[in-house]
Amino acid sequence: MPQMKTNAGRMGARQIYEALRDQIMSLVYGADGLLPSSRALANEMGVARSTVTIAYEQLAAEGFIETRHGARPRVARAVVERGRLRATSRPSTRKVRLSSFGERLRQDSPRWTEPPRGLIANFRYGELSPSDFPVLAWKKAVTAAMTRKPERLAYDDPCGSLRLRTALQGYLWRSRSIRCDVDQIVVVNGSQQGLDICARLLLDAGDRFVMEDPGYQMARHTFAATGAAAVPVAVDADGLQAERLDGIAARLAYVTPSHQYPLGGVLPIGRRHHLLAWARNNDAYVIEDDYDSEYRYDTKPIPPLHALEGSDHVIYLGTVSKTLSPTLRIGYLVVPQGLRSLFAAAKQIMDRHTPLIEQEALATMLESGAYDSHVRRARRRNAERQTTLISALHRRFGDRVRIEGAAAGLHLVAWFDGLPQKREDALIKAASARGIGIYPVSALFVSPSLRGSRSASSWAMRRWRPRKSNAAASFSRRRSPNWTDNFSQNWQFMTGQIPAISIARTETCHVYPPGFQGRRYREHSRDHPRCPPCEPRHGHQ
Ligand SMILES: Cc1ncc(COP(=O)(O)O)c(C=O)c1O
Repeated sequence: MPQMKTNAGRMGARQIYEALRDQIMSLVYGADGLLPSSRALANEMGVARSTVTIAYEQLAAEGFIETRHGARPRVARAVVERGRLRATSRPSTRKVRLSSFGERLRQDSPRWTEPPRGLIANFRYGELSPSDFPVLAWKKAVTAAMTRKPERLAYDDPCGSLRLRTALQGYLWRSRSIRCDVDQIVVVNGSQQGLDICARLLLDAGDRFVMEDPGYQMARHTFAATGAAAVPVAVDADGLQAERLDGIAARLAYVTPSHQYPLGGVLPIGRRHHLLAWARNNDAYVIEDDYDSEYRYDTKPIPPLHALEGSDHVIYLGTVSKTLSPTLRIGYLVVPQGLRSLFAAAKQIMDRHTPLIEQEALATMLESGAYDSHVRRARRRNAERQTTLISALHRRFGDRVRIEGAAAGLHLVAWFDGLPQKREDALIKAASARGIGIYPVSALFVSPSLRGSRSASSWAMRRWRPRKSNAAASFSRRRSPNWTDNFSQNWQFMTGQIPAISIARTETCHVYPPGFQGRRYREHSRDHPRCPPCEPRHGHQ
C-alpha cells in the first residue's frame, strides 16, 4: 500500500484525495490498477472509513477511478492510457547527481532485452527448455521445505543454510573433486551476485582485472563498475592463452576453464598450472566460473582449478542456472578460508541471505539424489539435442560451417569462415524475419581490435577474418522440413554472412529429423505450442 501519512498526523479527505490523485497520475497502481479497499486504507492510515469514502467519491466524480459496489476501486482505463503517454513522452531532463559507481554504470551498463516472442526457433543463449525442469521433484522439495515448522521466523546465516552448504560440500566433492570446508561455501543469488561480491571485495578504481577475450560480458560489467580496468587476454580453441599472462599485473583473473564462454574451449592442464602460477606470483585471485560444467560430452574431466590449487588463490563459482533454472537465482561460491567472514559480511549487507525456502528445497534435492539424477537426465537430453543440431547444420551448410565448443556445455558456436562480418546485422535481421533467433559472438569481445580489425592475432580472429565469398549463390533451394532450410533460403539474397553465431543447445524445435516421434516430440510441442507448421512436415501424428 502506498505511503501517505504526513508528519502533520492524520489526513483529511482532501489530502487523501490529492495524494491518491498524484499516485494515480504517476502510475503507481500497476497493471491491474486496483486501489486498496476503503476499509483497508482507513485502517492503514488511522482515519475513519467515511474519510476515505469521501476521497474515493471525489476521485470517481472526476473520472480518475471506477467504483463498483462490493469491489475495490480501480483506476479508470482512460487515465491509465493518458498516464502511460505522459510517462513516455516527457522524460525528465533533470541531471541526476550520481556516485562515481553510478556514473560508470550509466556510461557502460549491461543491456537487458525482452526475449523475442513468436519465433519458430530461438537460439538465445542462457535460456533453458522448460520441459527439462524437474517439476515434480522441485514441487515435492518446496512443499517439504514449507511444511517443516521452523522454531521461529528469523534471519539465517548470510552464508546460506547449513543444510544446503553441507549438501553442496558433498556434491562438489563427488562431481568436481573439490574438497572444501562447509564454512568456505557461500550461497548467493546466482553467479552474478558472487561476481558482484568479488568485485566489491577485491577491486578498487584504478586496479586491473584479466578478462578472457571474447568473454562473459556480465562479469566484465560487474568488475568495470568498480572503476577497475579490463585487461583482455585472447582466447583460442583451448580457452585462455595463459602464457600471455606473463608480464601482466592484475588483482584478479576471471576465467571459464571448463567450457570457455563463448568459444567453448576446455583449458588444458598445462595452461591451468600456468594460470595458477601467475596468480601466486602476482598475489592475485583467479575467479573460476564453472557455470555449465555439468554438461560434459566427449571429453575426459580435467580437475577444476580449485581442485588443483586448493583455495588460496582460487574463488570457485557455481550455479544452478544451467541445471535447474536461471529464474531460481541460486549460486554458490567456494572462497579462501581467510576471506570467508568478509564474504559473509558483504552478503549480509546486500540482502541478509538468499531466500530460505529455495535453499532448503535445493538441499532436499541434493540429499535425496534427485538433483544428481536430474543432471544426468538433462545431460543425456542435451547430448541428443546437440547431435541433432550439429547434423542439421552440417546437412544444410556442409563444409561452410565449422562448429566449435561442442565438447561441453549448453551452447556451441557455428563459424561461417568465408563470409564477411559486416553482414552480421543483416543476417540476424533476415533470420529473425523468418522466425529464427540467432546471436552473434562479436558482441562478446572486450577488445575492439580483436572484434573487428585485421591486425588481430588471436586464433579466433585469424579464423574468422572475412574472405571473399559467393556462398549465397550456392545454397540449396530445395524445401525440407527444418529450420535450417528457412535459414538458408534467407541467405539466397544476401551477399555475405555472419562470422559466427552462438547457439543455445537447449533449443530443440525444428531440428528433429522427419518422422521423429514419441516422448521428444511431446516435449517439443509443449515448449513451442506456436509452431504447428512443423507437425505435418515432420510427419508427427
Ligand atoms: C559465463 C557464465 N557464467 C555464469 C552464468 C550464470 O549466471 P547466474 O548464475 O547469475 O544465472 C552464465 C549464464 O548465462 C554464464 O554465461
